[in-house]
Amino acid sequence: MTTFTLAHLSDVHLPPLPRPAIGELLGKRMLGYLNWTRNRHRIHQSDVLDALVADLQAQRPDHIAVTGDLVNLALSAEFAPARQWIEGVGTPQLVSLVPGNHDAYTRDAEPRFEATFGDYMRSDTGAAGFPTLQTRGPLALIGLSTAVPTAPFMATGTIGAPQLAALDRMLGPLSGLELFRVLLIHHPLRSKHSHKRLTDSDALQAVLKRHGVDLILHGHDHIHSTMWFEGPLGRIPAIGVPSASSIAHGHKPAAAYNLFAIARAGDAWTCEQTVRGFGEGPGISELQRAALT
Ligand SMILES: [Fe+2]
Repeated sequence: MTTFTLAHLSDVHLPPLPRPAIGELLGKRMLGYLNWTRNRHRIHQSDVLDALVADLQAQRPDHIAVTGDLVNLALSAEFAPARQWIEGVGTPQLVSLVPGNHDAYTRDAEPRFEATFGDYMRSDTGAAGFPTLQTRGPLALIGLSTAVPTAPFMATGTIGAPQLAALDRMLGPLSGLELFRVLLIHHPLRSKHSHKRLTDSDALQAVLKRHGVDLILHGHDHIHSTMWFEGPLGRIPAIGVPSASSIAHGHKPAAAYNLFAIARAGDAWTCEQTVRGFGEGPGISELQRAALT
């Protein structure tokens, strides 16, 4: 039985935050900048992120999924270092990316993100735009964008009707193939906080109930999380992961990533999750293991 290993990390919030250009600190960015200088610069640390990526690469995963929030305020000066960072993680063949709300922090950021990271978000057909579809080994990786600019103090996500309709069309034919379907999405499908929620989660869940996927990976909440959603043939696990650059603070755990060992057993899939990250001891270690299917 051949095992395919998928690594998942999220919410890079690449530190340090570069100096904003003149005129960039208006409206929502001004509030975000104050938040960064007061709090977040202490939480997101380069050495934490570097150690996490080094540990991930030492595991030699077959593929790596990154579910958004590469940058912080989507300042123009944040994009070149973020591009350099993802190239250090792996090539577009090895790494799949979807954007987070911080990547579309304000209206000017969305084209900037596509221009910088487009090759990490391309479907196998070469087409741009979401949903994306990439096959790697036995995996079909389906990427959604929930990244939309929002008002100050809001961090909601929205997929939108056109993208949901395209997802519906994409997932139908996939269910008949022997592929392990992984949905990549920045926002979790369920949230305790209305200002952080996915506004059209009900519509997404209806599509998933109709066609199913085998695994959902998300970020956004910066916590370890396992939720289950209804599929046509059983429950679908949805796994969230802490920020890849974060020290432990408040209720939020320190940086971690997940490894999923996926294999075909007879006419079904097995998927085992291993959590690696900063725990009680020094450095990075295995924190938990769970059989998802
Ligand atoms: Fe985030």
